[in-house]
Amino acid sequence: MCGIVGYTGVQGASPILLEGLKKLEYRGYDSAGIALVNEGVISIAKVTGRIANLCEKTNDGKDYPGTCGIGHTRWATHGAPSDNNAHPHLSNDGRFAIVHNGIIENYMSLHDELTAKGYHFESQTDTEVIVHLLEMYYKGDIKKAVIKTIARLQGSYALGVICTEHPDKLYVAREASPLILGVGVSENFFASDVTALVSYTRNAIYLEDGEFAEISPEEINVFDCTLKPIEKKITRIVWDIKASEKGGYEHFMLKEIMEQPRAFKATIAPRIKDNDIVLDETELTKEYLESVNKIVITACGSAYYAGCAAKYTIEKLCRVPVITELASELRYCDPLIDEHTLLIVLSQSGETADTIAAMKECKSKGAKTIAVVNVVGSTIATLADHALYTWAGPEIAVATTKGFTTQLAVLYLFALYAAKKLNNIDEERYLSLLSSLKSMPKKIQETLDTNSNIHKIAIKYYDNKSMFFIGRNTDYAIALEGALKMKEISYIHAESYAAGELKHGTIALIEEHRPVVALCCNESVMEKTVSNIVEVKARGADVLALTFKGNSKIVSVANDVIYVPKVETFFSAAVEIVPLQLLAYYVAKLNECDIDKPKNLAKSVTVE
Ligand code: F6R
Repeated sequence: MCGIVGYTGVQGASPILLEGLKKLEYRGYDSAGIALVNEGVISIAKVTGRIANLCEKTNDGKDYPGTCGIGHTRWATHGAPSDNNAHPHLSNDGRFAIVHNGIIENYMSLHDELTAKGYHFESQTDTEVIVHLLEMYYKGDIKKAVIKTIARLQGSYALGVICTEHPDKLYVAREASPLILGVGVSENFFASDVTALVSYTRNAIYLEDGEFAEISPEEINVFDCTLKPIEKKITRIVWDIKASEKGGYEHFMLKEIMEQPRAFKATIAPRIKDNDIVLDETELTKEYLESVNKIVITACGSAYYAGCAAKYTIEKLCRVPVITELASELRYCDPLIDEHTLLIVLSQSGETADTIAAMKECKSKGAKTIAVVNVVGSTIATLADHALYTWAGPEIAVATTKGFTTQLAVLYLFALYAAKKLNNIDEERYLSLLSSLKSMPKKIQETLDTNSNIHKIAIKYYDNKSMFFIGRNTDYAIALEGALKMKEISYIHAESYAAGELKHGTIALIEEHRPVVALCCNESVMEKTVSNIVEVKARGADVLALTFKGNSKIVSVANDVIYVPKVETFFSAAVEIVPLQLLAYYVAKLNECDIDKPKNLAKSVTVE
């Protein structure tokens, strides 16, 4: 989704802006641009397509001098990808240029109002109204003009502004879209994402909704919407720069798949102390947990599937009903939620618009909220009553992998923690499950090692238009995530069904050599899934089964078998997904797809 950067300091701004935009490429975009203030004039370069085109157009920034500027990667929402629709946008008098992430919901009425007043529009974007509002409200005081402008906007924005009359200053404002300020020495920055900042500074200020800042090379001043100054604390960014580079792998996705044992360990290890699970961040007391009559898990996409997989573990161990609900549905369904509901929100980015809205809706009804988030200081982490971070490090590939497994890791910890607090588990069982959980990083590593030649299986299956993924219980949840991985990066139609549902319609689609990936790791439903395999085989399907090592029942019924180590069923989702990530990766590679940046997708879905 769109990304923004800004720089003011003593160095040439263009190369820094271009570098920052490259770091934001992973979010997904279709056009890009930069704007610089120099000698009283704003110059703008915009291109459709990749940042490489922008580098070429600007001669790597050398043809665009100036020490203060803004940049943008655009992911089209209003108006097709084009040079005109790309940001930055310029005011008619040439005094202001702006970049914007988010959506201005009332842009049509503003557009009509501004057109009637004689302002001329160059683009079809919702954003352009902002720059004309600025021009309209500017009467010599830029801070007042920005405040008046944002007061007219409905929707979401992270906004960056430059102005010819304040040639060394950046003005930024935020509402429901991430915006981070980077604090340097004689230079300061802003970006929508810390990855664009970490090469330059590790000191960050996280702006909150309704805040506005004036940034010069020497200082950053933050205000509220009445221009009252706000004291902000500087937070240290702990992400490793190397973690946002490929480190010898051909794709970020493969690197991130391989990082899963480490990421899982980094997420659980600091929270297990002498056989106790310490979730200090949550203050989930016995009394509070006893007052909870249901747990609602909400998220989007893969994060939602992590919730679906962990639902079985939490419900079985805690004996509390767990309801999983897509955030885009939950936000509009007037859910039955009150102060006895514990809401668990899952989000890698911490910025997903639907998830934020669902969370706000549930909070307003009295639910206590726990956010399982990867990005420190993100909106969801800030809004939640308690944030439990997944220590996966930066995830750059659009398709999530380590983000997903570390969400499972936190949910497994939570399940054991709550079960113990609620006295639903005896000490022996608790210790045995804790020991299984501690061994999971090793088991994930073993899964990667066992499946090092999965590309050979991919060769058999990559040339297909459609695939099915089936399973029951946790196997079904992982079938959903496996199918999502396949479709989003290989563009092969991949559909997941609860195996027991096949007979209710889907089996009509099974034909000669149709690939069916059958997940069979859950022993309690093994026989049932095997029957479903036999049924699809009888109709000509090619079955690729996924099961645990030593399960001989599958060999005779499947065409191919992928093995994972046998682990405690409560935690098996975290090993089952790994070969499916690898399968999707190699199928996409054989189909020559843009694996890290699949078409039409964005890493962080900050608009509805
Ligand atoms: C799929 C994928 C998406 C995200 C979803 C939620 O690989 O990455 O389905 O899981 O957009 O994103 P977050 O977790 O950032 O809220």
